[in-house]
Amino acid sequence: MDNAEYKQWRKAKLDNYPRNVEELVVSIGGLTNLDNAERASVIETCRLFNMAIYRCRGRHVDRPAIRKFAENFGLQRPDRHLCANSDGVSELSVAFEGTRTEYVPYSNRSLSWHTDGYYNRESHRVRAVVLHCAANAEAGGENALLDPDIAYIRLRDEDPRFITAFEHPGCMTIPANNDGEGEIRPEVSGPVFSYEGNGAVHMRYSARKRNIQWRDDDVTRAAREFLSEILADRNGEVFHYRLQPGEGLISNNVLHNRTAFSDGAGPRRLLYRARFFDRIKTI
Ligand SMILES: [Fe+2]
Repeated sequence: MDNAEYKQWRKAKLDNYPRNVEELVVSIGGLTNLDNAERASVIETCRLFNMAIYRCRGRHVDRPAIRKFAENFGLQRPDRHLCANSDGVSELSVAFEGTRTEYVPYSNRSLSWHTDGYYNRESHRVRAVVLHCAANAEAGGENALLDPDIAYIRLRDEDPRFITAFEHPGCMTIPANNDGEGEIRPEVSGPVFSYEGNGAVHMRYSARKRNIQWRDDDVTRAAREFLSEILADRNGEVFHYRLQPGEGLISNNVLHNRTAFSDGAGPRRLLYRARFFDRIKTI
């Protein structure tokens, strides 16, 4: 993006930026029977903010309903990763047995800032995510959310070299995933920022301290530190939201984290999650 283009894009983005998380909320009847106005409203919210929180009046949800809902927005190609079901929809709840017990999303621990699938190779870039809450925890499980475009703007305004450092193909390396018996996934290197054909910013990031190798240079280090400050919400731009049953987040894989949670005696926290290689279609 050259400077003239950037200034225009930046202005539009910041002028529209919501002051309150409720501006992201769109009310819909149900996942499988969206009408045109509801669909348009979700699309417009995503066009402006890269995400929308939808609130269903109906409570019916299952894995096919998540896929059907996503199809309204051009999300057709799911990431069928290790812990997903064959339809590409994962059920996030605390796991007590099997492979899932090894992964933090399937525990009640907190998750640090990241974009989904940051360990995927370039050809499997996760561009959009649907996260639907079927049952709440008794306490905790709140998400913080930040549009990656805002992170990009704050970094570029601070020092354009931060963007160049984050565009480097060797910027962030995730070592191979090894389960002791063999390699599940090879080492993956790639940039933090890359761009879609239409110019949209794509962000790949994890704040995890372990298992991430960053390019060893001063500008990358400074850029990471500055990004940590942005994510610590020094500008008041981070949204905090605890999804309620029947609510969900549809996004172009925005930055997010999750607080720890505890389940009570009632139904355990259950979130459906589907990741897609497509971006949300905005036209
Ligand atoms: Fe995530």
